[in-house]
Amino acid sequence: MDLPALPPIDSLRGAFAGRLITDPRDLEPFLVDWRRRYFGRAIAAAIPDTVEGVAAVVRWCAEQRVAVVPQGGNTGMSGAATPDDSGRSVVLSLARLKRVRAIDTVNNSITVEAGCTLAEVRAAAQAAGRLFPLSLPSEGSCTIGGNLSTNAGGVAVLRYGNARELCLGLEVVTADGETWHGLRGLRKDNTGYDLRDLFVGSEGTLGVITAATLKLYPLPAAQVTAMAALDDPHAALRLLEQAQSALGSSLTAFELISDLCLELVAKHFPDHRRPFAQPSPYYVLLETSDSEGEAHATAAFEALMERALDTGIVRDAVVATSGAQSRALWALRELISEAQSATGKNIKHDVSVPISSIGDFVERTNAELAQRFPGIRLVVFGHLGDGNLHYNVSPPVDRCGPEHEAEFLALQPAINRVTHDSVHAFGGSISAEHGLGQLRRDESARYKSAIEMALMRRVKQALDPLGIMNPGKVLPPG
Ligand code: FAD
Ligand code: MLT
Ligand code: ZN
Repeated sequence: MDLPALPPIDSLRGAFAGRLITDPRDLEPFLVDWRRRYFGRAIAAAIPDTVEGVAAVVRWCAEQRVAVVPQGGNTGMSGAATPDDSGRSVVLSLARLKRVRAIDTVNNSITVEAGCTLAEVRAAAQAAGRLFPLSLPSEGSCTIGGNLSTNAGGVAVLRYGNARELCLGLEVVTADGETWHGLRGLRKDNTGYDLRDLFVGSEGTLGVITAATLKLYPLPAAQVTAMAALDDPHAALRLLEQAQSALGSSLTAFELISDLCLELVAKHFPDHRRPFAQPSPYYVLLETSDSEGEAHATAAFEALMERALDTGIVRDAVVATSGAQSRALWALRELISEAQSATGKNIKHDVSVPISSIGDFVERTNAELAQRFPGIRLVVFGHLGDGNLHYNVSPPVDRCGPEHEAEFLALQPAINRVTHDSVHAFGGSISAEHGLGQLRRDESARYKSAIEMALMRRVKQALDPLGIMNPGKVLPPG
């Protein structure tokens, strides 16, 4: 396509009331992703504080054939919020759209603007005596617009579902700068194609989410946390089965953690150490949300752990007896990403397989990788209760320094191939919750059928005919 020359930036400055960042030093944080794997270029970062301002920026971009790269908290793991290196993009930050528009404790819903952080949405719900259950370690920085655009998962999907399942309605600025007012607070609405579900999980490639109506739940009377030490993911699956039989839907989190994860956390955050005298190959962090109170929840966990110890499923277990202990156990889990990043570059996989296959998947994939890439270390953790593993690969201990980085990252295609072929063989997905962005775009196209790719392209063409919305993400060009 012949593109018009880049317009003077003053014409964008005049198009909306709001902040416009053009100074290269101020622009830098908008041009790199959280993992520092992608570096892009942009004309400017536009930060409007009204929905009309968002629409005006998108209209300007459409007129000038300039790409729009929506950005929330920039905590995404797939390079989806980083512009490409063409220099023909405007980063559209939603960070200043921060109003809580309404809370309805009868309808159990909250309407918030896209730039509210997840922590702010949870706090607003809590202040009204309700729970917004989406829960990610990045909740202080990620935004609800980003959560919906990535269909984020996190640690409570087992009980409450992912971001999609928590979304009742959306307000969206379309690719031609019109606003769709779809903030319906309905649990049931069968009036045609579900536009909301098209935008959720589309990673900013179809439109810009400016506000959302979300589901709320009653606050649980008590939440109790426990950690069990065990041999392998097979044992973790047996514990999951027993926990679900004993606790039913009270079981809200069931997270798998390999010992190397806790070793990295202890190395980089020395105050956070394993709660057991002896290390074990794996651990599970469990949480129950109980309507009958703390004593009931603790007793249920103790009984579960006693049985699991008696039958040899777990080696050891602790049940938190205070809020502080519970927070300390959660910190071990929530610090894994940061600890792994601090260790150097790693190769990330965000996979899901049917829950019952997780043990076999880990066993077979570990064996194949160990044979093909001797010495590599597997940093395995994740949301076992919903079948999602962060199956990450770090370099051998003696090849960790920055001087070995390029050599290690050159293995990424081959390591991806082994891991993703294995995921595919188990009927799984190569992106459970982090999305495709730039990182997995081509990998995904490899495993999807021709018809699925063609349908996705037709949706993109219908909603973004000029191809200005976050180009190069999700779908390969062409
Ligand atoms: P960004 O990174 O800014 O953007 C992500 C994508 O959404 C991009 O494609 C962007 O263009 C698009 N986008 C952003 N806002 C909008 C909008 N308003 N309209 C349209 N498109 C938009 N993710 C999980 O799912 N589960 C986890 O447990 C989890 N844990 C994490 C832990 C850590 C320590 C970190 C750093 C990240 C974690 N993440 C996790 C990843 C990340 O936090 C999520 O993907 C989150 O949903 C991204 O939100 P964000 O506001 O930062 O979005
Ligand atoms: C998590 O569950 O902690 C994340 O999704 C982040 C990660 O994979 O690093
Ligand atoms: Zn995760």
